[in-house]
Amino acid sequence: MCGIVGYIGKKQAAPVLIEGLYKLEYRGYDSVGIAVSDGEELRIVKRIGRVKEIECARRERGTVGIGHTRWATNGGVSVENAHPHSYKNIVLVHNGIIENAEKLKYDLLAKGEKFYSETDSEVIAHLIADAYSGDLLGAVMRACSQLTGSYALAVFSTDEPRMLVCARMHSPLIVGKAKEGLVVASDIPAVAEKDARLYTLNDGEFAKLEGDELLFFSAAGRRIGKDTIEFDLNEGCVEWNGRHFMRKEIDEIPKVLQASRLEIENDSCFSDFYKVLCQTEYIQIVACGTAYHSGLCLKSAMERICRVPTEVCIASEYRYSDPIVAKGTLLIAISQSGETADTIAAVRLAKKRGAYVAAVVNVRYSSLTRLADVVLYTQAGREVAVAATKSFNAQLIALYSIAETVASVKGVKAPSLTGLARKAAETIAISETVRSWTPYFVGAKSAYFIGRGADMCAALEGSLKLKEISYLPSEGYAAGELKHGTLALIEPYTPVVAIITRRDIAQKTMNAVREAYSRGAVIFLVTCFKEFCDEKEVTASVLIPKCPPDYSPILSVIPLQLLAYYTSVARGNDPDKPRNLAKSVTVE
Ligand code: F6R
Repeated sequence: MCGIVGYIGKKQAAPVLIEGLYKLEYRGYDSVGIAVSDGEELRIVKRIGRVKEIECARRERGTVGIGHTRWATNGGVSVENAHPHSYKNIVLVHNGIIENAEKLKYDLLAKGEKFYSETDSEVIAHLIADAYSGDLLGAVMRACSQLTGSYALAVFSTDEPRMLVCARMHSPLIVGKAKEGLVVASDIPAVAEKDARLYTLNDGEFAKLEGDELLFFSAAGRRIGKDTIEFDLNEGCVEWNGRHFMRKEIDEIPKVLQASRLEIENDSCFSDFYKVLCQTEYIQIVACGTAYHSGLCLKSAMERICRVPTEVCIASEYRYSDPIVAKGTLLIAISQSGETADTIAAVRLAKKRGAYVAAVVNVRYSSLTRLADVVLYTQAGREVAVAATKSFNAQLIALYSIAETVASVKGVKAPSLTGLARKAAETIAISETVRSWTPYFVGAKSAYFIGRGADMCAALEGSLKLKEISYLPSEGYAAGELKHGTLALIEPYTPVVAIITRRDIAQKTMNAVREAYSRGAVIFLVTCFKEFCDEKEVTASVLIPKCPPDYSPILSVIPLQLLAYYTSVARGNDPDKPRNLAKSVTVE
């Protein structure tokens, strides 16, 4: 949700900012802008669209600057609403949502101040300018004390053009010393370089970057020290000359599954995590989107294999549901980014109510990793495409490993997780045939994905993938529920994808297939049972390798990911950057 970047140093700021923004584009790509100052003159360049739209600003002169790539929250997509925002001597970029902005703006308007955008961010610029009397840090602190909501800010004043001030509340911010200057950004890869010393700001903290000095302050204004964070330079290396990251990331699934198993076997963190798990009688899971679907997959496996009651909650619902957190509850928060605002808020609430929190996260040093009692890192590596693919499979193998371990402690025989990397490679090879299904989807009005048990979890994820990147209305459904209402939507040529990987309930799902077929649906099948591929109702099928049915989404989701990808491309979309979405959802 918006990426911010800042630089002050010896080099020209504009190229540094633009390069940083390219690495933050996954956080939003509605509009983009930079502001640079050479100490005399301030130049602001803003455009609608992606970072490439401000390539022309590379030659703007100035050694201090801030930049922003936006995912619109308050105010539509327009040049006026793009950042940086300025008022009087203050220029800023903001990531987050200010919840009391309307009230603050009302008071400022009453004082006769004028606004040029619809954003809450411009309100902050006014508050800082009004509080400024020669001390930028003090003015930012005073302004922030009036704000409710979330923010990561990078601010400079044309009166003190050798200084940047940063603040953080519930939105991530990294600050650091690079070789030739001081840097700030929403995420590590935007500023990572060899020998850079990087630090994370915590909620309520401030940083002052001046000359080559970097100072940190607590919410109370006291100087504080900080430890540097470790980072992997390669994590930011996402250059790739192929067509789409999403396709590349699906191809990486076997490698990710392999790396995940190795990590689980070798990582001591896992054994700590398992010790806690083994004592737990009750599990709550909180997550959003694809990560929520991973949670559903774990529930299915955990309850069927280990008989441990497991509840899965959408994080944005959990946080406002006054949840019951029974004594001894283990809360598992699942998140690729580790920055999802709703998941973080759910975790805070659960902790307050006494839960022990385990975070299953892909991105190191993310906010969730600092909140959790124990962190289990997934091994997806950096995922660039906005639609989660390999990170879902990485979450599943980590979560199924938990179920496997709990089972072994309880003396229950769990199915083996070995061989999944090889089977995933086979599945990718076979699933290429789904490309030939796309003509049925490209012109469809809507599509449906059905399954039972773990197959329903895969259906939900397949449907989410399709809708988010192809913009085709789609529903994932429990196969048995179709007849209770949704069947009314089936008309001739409606594509229905059925997933069947559990022998004992396969015929039950086939009943739903027949019901849909009788109403004119075109049926596509993802299954590990050859005989169903030959049924007269089935137009086309993918025969995936057999694997334990409780773990089957790890394979059955692959053809669905590919189907979404090919449909998106066939509809002329950019599957890597779907409209209205961003990779990291740091606002409510
Ligand atoms: C869908 C997708 C989203 C995310 C969701 C949670 O492809 O990527 O639904 O899964 O926004 O994000 P994380 O996992 O970062 O908490």
